[in-house]
Amino acid sequence: MSIDDPTSIWVVANKLRQLTPPTYVPSDLVETPVPHLNPPTLRKEAADAMVAMFAAGKVEGAGGMQLQSAYRSYSVQVKVYNGYVASAGKAGADSQSARPGFSEHQTGLAADISSLPLTCALQACFGQTPQGMWLAANAYRFGFLLRYPADKTPVTGYIYEPWHFRYIGIPLATEMHTTGVTTLEEFFGLPAAPDYAP
Ligand code: DAL
Ligand code: ZN
Repeated sequence: MSIDDPTSIWVVANKLRQLTPPTYVPSDLVETPVPHLNPPTLRKEAADAMVAMFAAGKVEGAGGMQLQSAYRSYSVQVKVYNGYVASAGKAGADSQSARPGFSEHQTGLAADISSLPLTCALQACFGQTPQGMWLAANAYRFGFLLRYPADKTPVTGYIYEPWHFRYIGIPLATEMHTTGVTTLEEFFGLPAAPDYAP
């Protein structure tokens, strides 16, 4: 399976790996029927896995969850990134928001999850909530990866994002869980991507 093709569930997007083409739009986006802030779409396979994960979280005692953000088009990412630049400056923005064409959200395979009722939404302390802890331990069972771990900023280029989960499919997520390799960069032997190319 390809890590270059944007239609592959293994595609690796980071600061050194812009999507090709940068304006890529997935062809199988569907509405994801879970609680949400704005109506979320994801690729069908990821949406189904998200529904199953939310249901399991509830059954297994983690509590309710909602999607804060899922698929974002190139043009939406322009707005998101520019908003961070306006409030945090360019370096601050780059530590937490991908530039357009570089975001996993544009693949339709990534989503930001929060607790319901909202607690620590899109903050590091989400990782200490029952939902955040359950997701960190169990997301792999549904094919999701906690993509930006606290100790991997030098590899991923982003601060700890305990809310951002990336769908990679159950076989790869299970393999990463079993081997203890926590980033796609390390798993696939890719260079660390702390910064954009000059
Ligand atoms: N917050 C992640 C890095 C994104 O913008 O895709
Ligand atoms: Zn995210």
